[in-house]
Amino acid sequence: MSRIYIFDTTLRDGEQSPGCSMTTSEKLEMADALVALGVDVLEAGFPIASEGDFEAVDAVSRRFPWVQVCALARACTLDVERAAKSLEKAKRPRIHTFIATSDIHLQYKLRKSRQQVLDDAVAAVSLARNYTDDVEFSAEDATRTDPAYLEQVSLAVVDAGARTVNLPDTVGFSVPDEYGELIARIVKVLGDRAIVSVHCHDDLGLAVANSLAAIRAGAKQIECTINGIGERAGNAALEEVVMAIKTRHDRLPFETGIHAEKIFPASQLLTRFITFGPQPNKAIVGENAFAHEAGIHQDGYLKNPATYEIMSPASVGVPESRIVLGKHSGRHALKKRAEDLGYQLSPADLEEVYTRFTQMADNKKGLRNEEIAVLVEEVVGRGAVTAK
Ligand code: KIV
Ligand code: ZN
Repeated sequence: MSRIYIFDTTLRDGEQSPGCSMTTSEKLEMADALVALGVDVLEAGFPIASEGDFEAVDAVSRRFPWVQVCALARACTLDVERAAKSLEKAKRPRIHTFIATSDIHLQYKLRKSRQQVLDDAVAAVSLARNYTDDVEFSAEDATRTDPAYLEQVSLAVVDAGARTVNLPDTVGFSVPDEYGELIARIVKVLGDRAIVSVHCHDDLGLAVANSLAAIRAGAKQIECTINGIGERAGNAALEEVVMAIKTRHDRLPFETGIHAEKIFPASQLLTRFITFGPQPNKAIVGENAFAHEAGIHQDGYLKNPATYEIMSPASVGVPESRIVLGKHSGRHALKKRAEDLGYQLSPADLEEVYTRFTQMADNKKGLRNEEIAVLVEEVVGRGAVTAK
């Protein structure tokens, strides 16, 4: 079975987005959850960017010496040396150096020629290798880079000592078959000389689909974040990547080292530290991910959860599924909720409660347990129901 390495960048790319900055102690607590989750590589910061980032990489390295801790550096001496310094206490340090390779970035951002960028990439990787054997190189904006040039850069950095070559879809521009083709091309060129890694942004909502296409094309590492946080529309969500692989093993015959039942607690912890939580309908960790409102769904779910759930909430650490009683709900769910609240309804009484319930629910977003209890009590008052 092909093992996929999960490279978590919640504390770096994730933290780098609006409303997501974390203090060192928050990063340490988050790192604890990520280690428990079983991530293979933990990117803890971009040390040249701030004192806080430097401190966080250093603190994570000291606290989790057995973990592969990674620090980001642009492809220049100052950055690589700063990253190396922040990792001094790490037992398994990884330096991750990057430079943009697309013509648009070369022309407008870097104002460098292709040869200059190639030279900078090779120099940064060689310098990083003086500090650690574990060097990753990223060709920023790889998906808008001339593939022939990308091959040239990838080969050159591997010759210089990079063990991982990451091909980011920095601006979330690629589509799955196209990204898969690019990855297959570089995997073929590098053979087993280096691991090909992917790092996808979600600008078109394709970050997870692109990451999955990439592993089918031979990539062995996926860079991702909890709740999909990250620059702009975010990165590929760790929980979605992992659960797609687990749930569709028939089509995605890969394995990760992630303990999936720790996903939801990690998502909740992150939500405590940043300014926003996952959207309610977010896959896996959103508030509605295991909630059922439509009567037909509720009826099926109550008969057998597998009718409407492709994974159990427990498998990702969500305490339980939720039956939401709203205007689309049916008698089966209402009867079950009444039972949960301590009432047994006869068929005629259920009918009466249900009629009143639908009148109320029509004008509301959903009824809370207390409201259901009041409704039932109104009927109880007429002796139509009996408390258990
Ligand atoms: O999106 C990107 O290209 C990055 C690199 C620094 C890996 O975050
Ligand atoms: Zn990124």
